[in-house]
Amino acid sequence: MISRQGTTDDDGTLLETVRLLLRPWRVEEAAIHRELWTERDPRVPAHRRIDADGRPSVADLEDRIRRTAHAGGPGLGLPALERRAERDVIGYCGLIEGGPGAHALDPEHPGPEIAFELLRRTQGQGYATEAARAVVQWAQEAGVEQLHATVWAWNAPSRRVLERLGFVTMRTQTTENGPGELLVASKIL
Ligand SMILES: CC(C)(COP(=O)(O)OP(=O)(O)OC[C@H]1O[C@@H](n2cnc3c(N)ncnc32)[C@H](O)[C@@H]1OP(=O)(O)O)[C@@H](O)C(=O)NCCC(=O)NCCS
Repeated sequence: MISRQGTTDDDGTLLETVRLLLRPWRVEEAAIHRELWTERDPRVPAHRRIDADGRPSVADLEDRIRRTAHAGGPGLGLPALERRAERDVIGYCGLIEGGPGAHALDPEHPGPEIAFELLRRTQGQGYATEAARAVVQWAQEAGVEQLHATVWAWNAPSRRVLERLGFVTMRTQTTENGPGELLVASKIL
């Protein structure tokens, strides 16, 4: 259920679902973003986890949010998920343009890669599925022909979300970045 697409309105909302707003991150929400980093599974590649020096710090993430805000661009990016009732930010869901999904995953059918991540305390309530459905619909209406996703074989909740959205595993690959196989899934829109 999406009421706004493609453009940002006055309050910055990009997409709206029954329970969620998808809107740009605000600098003062960097600590929430860092919480997502601290909660990541130890099997996630090291470059996506807090390092021994505590980086990225909240200040690093504030900088990133500032830079993203100024980058603009036509894509959806990875907007924050704000719960409409609670008015709190619980994670993000969006599209990585030009990421590995764009060409390397399927050179003949390039397309953005869908990504989502939620604070642990809000998982298991259907938020990722709800947000990702809105993102898929946005992509469809924006003329995207194919979406990709990469997910670790061990990541059952993420695989379930992708399965429910109609993504099909096209192949598996091993990588030095983490244990187990990495699944490459795609959805034709
Ligand atoms: C993946 C993630 C975003 C899912 O968020 P969520 O809001 O909890 O997802 P939903 O509630 O919409 O759906 C989760 C589904 O996984 C299922 N699930 C949860 N744990 C599971 C497990 N251990 N084994 C199998 N299925 C599981 C749930 O039952 C649900 O499916 P169902 O509704 O058919 O029962 C969340 O787990 C997360 O942030 N994980 C860490 C970051 C991450 O892995 N991101 C994706 C990288 S590819």
